[in-house]
Parts: sequence; structure tokens; C-alpha cells
Amino acid sequence: MAANENIPQHVAVIMDGNGRWARKRALPRHAGHRSGVGAVRKTVELAAQRGVQYLTLFAFSSENWSRPREEVSMLMALFIEALQREVDELHRNNVRLEFIGAREQLQPRLVDMIVAAEKQTIDNTGLRLLIAVAYGGRWDIVQAVRKLYGELARDEITADEIDDTAIAHRLQLGDLPDPDLLIRTGGEQRISNFLLWNLAYAELWFCDTLWPDFGEQQFDAALEFYAMRQRRYGHTGDQIEALGS
Ligand code: FPP
Repeated sequence: MAANENIPQHVAVIMDGNGRWARKRALPRHAGHRSGVGAVRKTVELAAQRGVQYLTLFAFSSENWSRPREEVSMLMALFIEALQREVDELHRNNVRLEFIGAREQLQPRLVDMIVAAEKQTIDNTGLRLLIAVAYGGRWDIVQAVRKLYGELARDEITADEIDDTAIAHRLQLGDLPDPDLLIRTGGEQRISNFLLWNLAYAELWFCDTLWPDFGEQQFDAALEFYAMRQRRYGHTGDQIEALGS
């Protein structure tokens, strides 16, 4: 483990800038999304090579449903195409693929493919790749509260048992570790309703690179930034140093 000491266990990514990448080239927005799939492939390879254990990618937010209808359909078609093309290769590389988000909002064909991909890769022991589709951080908290309310009403849990762990357990990431590092491309510096609960202590790294241009140089710069951070979780720097010695 020593070699991986400063490698984040869990990296989350907001892949922003596909539209602007396309506009700069006088191409339609969907050309940017299509090119973004290449950057997804590269990032998955890099994460696995660098020893990251969990990679969560924000592919489609709850708010993205309000984009023009053609863009939404095109994105859904692109997810289907990417699943058709990439899942066997991910499986060969021992990647476990999972999806988070309101899958009941997705078309049945896509849901079937998601379920099949999750089933095919469930026993893989390498990188765990989580794709957030139809996902919003507030939606996630609402669905956790609804689960808790149901359990309370059925007397399966008491109010006293509701704590941080109980809530986290019912969120989409469940008992997976929280992201240590959030990367956002495309120049904006916001969380945009991504994993609101789980990003509480994440280190945040932003770059101007548009998502289709994201690659090794940017990924390694983010990892270097992370390796330099001292994570304090509310403690003082002296306390953390004493713990480390
Ligand atoms: C944000 O750029 C990007 C998206 C809403 C879609 C992300 C999708 C992909 C990278 C394609 C495939 C993904 C997978 C997992 C196969 P934007 O459109 O908001 O760009 P802009 O801010 O420049 O307009």
C-alpha cells in the first residue's frame, strides 16, 4: 500500500465542456459529447493504472433533462452505444461497472443494458467504475429520507438510530468510501448538485481544459495536487501530524 499512500482511493469527476469543445470547432454539440466518450475511456485507464479504486463520473444530471429534446435523446443513444461497445473491454480489464441515479426515469432499453452490464462485471475485483446518470445530489438525499421514513413507519428502525452512517448507507453510494478528490473540467468552480453528502471532505480540483481534451497531463496534475493536500477533517494541522508520527 505504501506506493499508493497519496493516491486518492475514490475520485469523482464532473465532465464539463463538451458543448464548448464542439462550438470552438463549429461542430454540433453532440460531436462534443461523442468526443467526450474518448476522454472517459482514457480516464478509466489512467485511474486503473494509477491505483485509484473507485471512479465516479457525472454523465447526466437530474437537471440535464431540461436540455433540448434532441440533445437528451442523443445523449441517451450515446450511453447505449458506449455500453454496447465498451462493456466487454471493461470486463476483460477486471473493471466493475455500476450506475447511480434515478434509473426509473431512463428508457427501458438503457435500464436493461445497465442491469446486464452490472451483472456481467459484478465479480470483477479491479477498478470500480460508477456512472451517475439522471443523478442529483438533492434527489439522492430525498430518496434516502424516503427509505428511512418507510423503515420508521414499519418499525424497522428507531429515530435514535438515524445518524450519519444510517443516512450514508441509504444514499446511492451506500457503504462505498466518500470521494477523496473531485475533478471538474471546463472552467466552472461549482459542485452542481453532484454527490452533495459524499463530497463533504473531498479535495476540489478545477481546470479549464474542456472534457474531450482531458487526459494524462490533467489527471496527473490533479493527483499531484491531491498528494500535496493535508486532510484535516476538522482537526488542527498539529493533531494530524501527531497522528501520522
Ligand atoms: C457536460 O458538458 C457534459 C455532459 C452533460 C455529458 C457528459 C457525457 C459524456 C462525457 C459522454 C459519455 C459518457 C459516458 C459515461 C459514456 P456540457 O454539454 O455541459 O458542455 P458545455 O458546458 O461546454 O456546454
